[in-house]
Amino acid sequence: MNHFELKGGELTCEDVPLARIAEAVGTPVYVYSSATLERHYTVLRDALVGAGLGEPLIAYAVKANSNVAVLRTLARLGAGADVVSEGEIRRALAAGVPPERIVFSGVGKTAGEIAFALETGVCEINVESEPELHLVNAVAQAMGRRAAVAIRVNPDVEAGGHAKISTGKADNKFGVSLSQAERLYANAANMAGVRPVGVTCHIGSQITDLAPLEAAFGKMRALVERLRAEGLAVERLDLGGGLGAPYFNQPTPPTPGDYAAMIARVMAGLTDLQFAFEPGRMIAANAGVLVARVLHINQRPDGRRFLVLDAAMNDLLRPAMYDAYHDIRPVAPREGDLAPYDVVGPICETGDTFTRDRLLPPLEAGDLVAFMTAGAYGAAMSSEYNSRLLAPEVLVKGADYAVVRPRPTYDDMLARERTAPWL
Ligand code: LLP
Repeated sequence: MNHFELKGGELTCEDVPLARIAEAVGTPVYVYSSATLERHYTVLRDALVGAGLGEPLIAYAVKANSNVAVLRTLARLGAGADVVSEGEIRRALAAGVPPERIVFSGVGKTAGEIAFALETGVCEINVESEPELHLVNAVAQAMGRRAAVAIRVNPDVEAGGHAKISTGKADNKFGVSLSQAERLYANAANMAGVRPVGVTCHIGSQITDLAPLEAAFGKMRALVERLRAEGLAVERLDLGGGLGAPYFNQPTPPTPGDYAAMIARVMAGLTDLQFAFEPGRMIAANAGVLVARVLHINQRPDGRRFLVLDAAMNDLLRPAMYDAYHDIRPVAPREGDLAPYDVVGPICETGDTFTRDRLLPPLEAGDLVAFMTAGAYGAAMSSEYNSRLLAPEVLVKGADYAVVRPRPTYDDMLARERTAPWL
């Protein structure tokens, strides 16, 4: 469920018409609903607690939508943060996420980032390889610290979905094998600079079937039991993120309730363990839209109709990168028959096509359209390609809205660069 609905013939975010925001802030613009963010976090938390999984650490995956106001909205509800860079640690801290709820993931952390994480006091560094374990050990020892680490396991499970976002197969770059994890965990217990606190896995994103998650989690449970049987302490089991969000016209993901019930079943009888989760998309995706304006309609003699928008692949990369489907809705729908459109942006490459032959109601130049389910991996993946300014971000709460990232100016863009002394 989300809070983008037609009210009086106009698409609104909570109680604010999207057209009002577009007039005031300009287009393209990302608009987020506080109520949807809050609802998704709360539904997941209640499902996990309700299934008897104790008080889990829900470390929201900052990469999905890293706007500080979005992070603060979730932090106020008790969310932690799953981060993959020093920049994301800094964002989480700026949003008021307590360091003891920050989990630091990623296959290639630098010594500098590890030192920063340790200074910050993050609750867990998810170690993805043997060299990284040694690096964390060395950095922590040099600082006179002992780093809490979890070993990221690659359970070799096919998560389904797009190959570019599958992470849990043996040939993906993430984590170590189950047997390697067992050895590294035991080694880590004898290192002066690290303290192994748990194991972690994350097998992919936009997962719409519980079976691969169940297979991976079963392997993780067996690993925890083997480690404990060897006399090693395991305090936390981090099950990553990956639960899909409902994109219109796409396979329906399991509900948080079904997800939690499956985990409770797989983990039954496992005690003295905190569960951690790293959800991104299921919290943020349906909490955001990208609003764009129709620049013009290019009608070809052969019948093909291009809807040229002022938003482009630099603003929303997912269709170009993953052939992702985003529902496109007129902000003020007109009566009339549906007709096929190729929806494109102004960028100078054919890849800047959001969709082909999409059936849409009548549209005219100047109309506003909204790309739905754009709150996750939307603004976070945007760029200035073609020297287009980053789209602003707006957060709505009830009848109020705030610009939480203004559109930069062209002067801001140029001021970041310098000329070389010989030019
Ligand atoms: N934890 C780790 C270690 C991850 O790598 C990811 C996502 C997550 C958690 C959050 O996964 P989620 O719950 O959001 O599925 N840009 C792509 C998605 C990339 C996901 C990368 N890792 C897209 O737009 O579809």
